[in-house]
Amino acid sequence: MYKNIIVTGGAGFIGSNFVHYVVNNHPGVHVTVLDKLTYAGNKANLAGLPEDRVKLVVGDICDVDLVDSLVKDADAIVHYAAESHNDNSLLDPTPFIQTNIVGTSVLINAARKYDVRFHHISTDEVYGDLPLREDLPGHGEGPGEKFTPESPYRPSSPYSSSKASSDLLVRAWVRSFGLQATISNCSNNYGPYQHIEKFIPRQITNILSGIRPKLYGTGKNVRDWIHTNDHSRAVWQILTKGKIGETYLIGADGEKNNKDVLELILQMMGQPADAYDQVKDRPGHDLRYAIDATKLRTELGWKPEFTDFETGLQHTIDWYTEHRDWWEAEKAAVEAKYARQGQ
Ligand code: NAD
Ligand code: DAU
Repeated sequence: MYKNIIVTGGAGFIGSNFVHYVVNNHPGVHVTVLDKLTYAGNKANLAGLPEDRVKLVVGDICDVDLVDSLVKDADAIVHYAAESHNDNSLLDPTPFIQTNIVGTSVLINAARKYDVRFHHISTDEVYGDLPLREDLPGHGEGPGEKFTPESPYRPSSPYSSSKASSDLLVRAWVRSFGLQATISNCSNNYGPYQHIEKFIPRQITNILSGIRPKLYGTGKNVRDWIHTNDHSRAVWQILTKGKIGETYLIGADGEKNNKDVLELILQMMGQPADAYDQVKDRPGHDLRYAIDATKLRTELGWKPEFTDFETGLQHTIDWYTEHRDWWEAEKAAVEAKYARQGQ
């Protein structure tokens, strides 16, 4: 259906997994990756992909002329590029405003100008957080006890508020200018190519480096984990079958608290379950995320393939164990930055 797609942020974690997914599953589609290669972008994430199917353009989504020159020849844009780490947004929100808000506005202006299909990748964090299951009358399954597309926007951090702003821009461009766009808000991804600043890869690579894992606060905070391959399949469904103007929530019923995830990683890597440090909590730390993906499942027929978290986690541990050259050079600097924050 779409022959030439632009994937912004395609050298980052989720974007590169999506590019691999498209190349492996949808012959005949050419992907142009537009990526600034910030600290989070890595050319190596696209290594081995055929040159006649994937072209990397190193550049900024805020560059109006560059974006215009690429969008005029495309028939769809899948927009992943963002500053993505909450902790960084607490240290300096400026690049989050620039890339996540201004960058998105540049892309949707170009998509409008050339009438190009646009899919906006967003996060469940735009909805703020939820009480823990044990504090809810329906124990997390009752009405309003998970995020739905109707949940009010209530972002907590500079990162999530910048993503919320970008969602609202896309919605306004759909309504006012007829932009051919959809939005998806996904929960926490895990899998290969995730930057080692993030929770799961940080703990795996800590253990592989002989550093004690670090848990923020008590670790009661709940994240709703989804394997990044399941996210990619959902995005393709929405891009090709989703209804213009609609928002789809993506999640795989993977709620777990951070302490349980960390103890599982330790156990799977042959360490004592208490071999970690509790460190300073994140300011404004969201308590619980949980996705109700009924709309995606019923309207578009999507369902996750990674239904067993332990299996997906084992693949992820194996990947970081086998790809030390992908992360090892950065490890000391990432940990030094956390240490300066008391984390
Ligand atoms: P990431 O930080 O791993 O990758 C972001 C990519 O964007 C990098 O390759 C980076 O170089 C690129 N980039 C940053 N600024 C840019 C700019 N100005 N111009 C061009 N490229 C730029 O992020 P990720 O975890 O892969 O997240 C990708 C998207 O998915 C983001 O929009 C994020 O909000 C969203 N998301 C992430 C998760 C998650 O769990 N990681 C969950 C839901 C939604
Ligand atoms: O929910 C989707 C979001 O998931 C995405 O929009 C973000 O881009 C992505 O980074 C992720 O945000 P989180 O803040 O949930 O992810 P992070 O990996 O930073 O942290 C996950 C949880 O683990 C969170 O509760 C904080 C905690 N944590 C994190 C780190 C880095 C720790 O306990 N220790 C750590 O060392």
